[in-house]
Amino acid sequence: MPAPSRDPLVRFVEVRKAFGPKVVYENLTLSIYPGETLTILGGSGTGKSVALKLLIGLLRADSGAIYVDGQDIVNHNENQFLPIRKRISMLFQSGALFDSITVGENVAYPLREHAKMSDAEIRDVVAEKLEWVGLPGIEKMKPADLSGGMRKRVALARAIAGSPEIILYDEPTTGLDPINTRRISELILSIQDRIKVTSVVVTHDMACAFIVSDRMAMLANRRVVAELPAREFQESDNPVIRDFIYAMSLDKIIQEREAAGGHIHVTQAQRVDELDNGGRP
Ligand SMILES: Nc1ncnc2c1ncn2[C@@H]1O[C@H](COP(=O)(O)OP(=O)(O)OP(=O)(O)O)[C@@H](O)[C@H]1O
Ligand SMILES: [Mg+2]
Repeated sequence: MPAPSRDPLVRFVEVRKAFGPKVVYENLTLSIYPGETLTILGGSGTGKSVALKLLIGLLRADSGAIYVDGQDIVNHNENQFLPIRKRISMLFQSGALFDSITVGENVAYPLREHAKMSDAEIRDVVAEKLEWVGLPGIEKMKPADLSGGMRKRVALARAIAGSPEIILYDEPTTGLDPINTRRISELILSIQDRIKVTSVVVTHDMACAFIVSDRMAMLANRRVVAELPAREFQESDNPVIRDFIYAMSLDKIIQEREAAGGHIHVTQAQRVDELDNGGRP
């Protein structure tokens, strides 16, 4: 659990980021504490992926500061970013496995890139990480032969292979059915327990968010409008948070009905009943 009295491991302070006339962040201020899982929630296009990319230097802030362990990285050059990127691993929104190489080589990739390990040591780490995500022994398979849920789990194994201090998850459950969503969320939680990593999870998915989070931050109006422990977030009467949770729960019901071939024109009264009933029709 987070200890707010400790110093943050990562701190965004008054960060501004625009693309031409499009201002994504006017004033992004957000702290991430060592060992916690912080979830960033927000509608499509509010800048969730941009926040993660600013942290690993794939995008640059226009102004403000981003501290990692007390060191401001905003004006770091590519060389100065190398040690930062060794400490931070990102699970990209697209999942992005390399399709031309085997699962084993995919998971080994961060080890070959950053660590000085022998082939035998790399093999052991790859086997261990595949076991952690519930896919032991699939090293020789190609990504194209895997289901969507399996691809996400392999991407997760790759993200943890290099023993990062910080893992950034960009929409880890996108495109998965409810069972696989739950499985990935629980895997994130178990990884958190096993390697005591600090995690930032970006998601639309409230089920995932409530399973994995110690704290939650809500993005709107080009900034963080609330940053709360998970339970307080869930019970918050902040209208931005309530509207978001309501809209996301509705989205989920509609998606699930569409997937089941059911009718999707539910009445407002039915929707409220379903939400009161934890989303179950
Ligand atoms: N490289 C870029 N060049 C120009 N505009 C960009 C770039 N990256 C992001 N944007 C814009 O910044 C805004 C925020 O994008 P971002 O990808 O962070 O949204 P998001 O919150 O992750 O959305 P989603 O939930 O759909 O993934 C969007 O309007 C997007 O079009
Ligand atoms: Mg995104």
